[in-house]
Amino acid sequence: MRHLDLELLRVALLVGLLAGGLLLAPGCETTSQFIAADGSLDCQVLYARRCSQCHALYQPDDFSDEEWVQKVKRYGPRAGIHPEWRPQLIEWLQRANDRPAGG
Ligand code: HEC
Repeated sequence: MRHLDLELLRVALLVGLLAGGLLLAPGCETTSQFIAADGSLDCQVLYARRCSQCHALYQPDDFSDEEWVQKVKRYGPRAGIHPEWRPQLIEWLQRANDRPAGG
């Protein structure tokens, strides 16, 4: 029976790896919580959840339009924000802040 046990273990391991990979893959399982009812990206939720993992959330007003481009470029990867979402997040931050021109 020893051979069968090993085979079962191998299959269980494989299934576990597959399931884990699906859960961790960006754009799969974790995506849905950031999609609004109308199918658009909910930037507010995305920002609030992803950008507050390591420090308190910065306010859109804290930075100018140009600065937000740099911040999202720098911290987007660390926050696991999908590259396709970054331009939308930048736009949202720029719209939400009250300082269109730099400074
Ligand atoms: C994995 C941890 C982590 C995540 C997630 C994260 N940050 Fe940060 N953030 C840091 C650390 C660490 C610092 C301290 C300064 C540094 O390391 O550059 C920082 C500092 C900052 C600062 C102040 C310093 C500066 O560059 O002006 C801003 C603004 C900032 N983060 C924005 C964001 C935004 C926006 C997101 C989401 C896209 C985000 N952070 C997600 C780790 C993180």
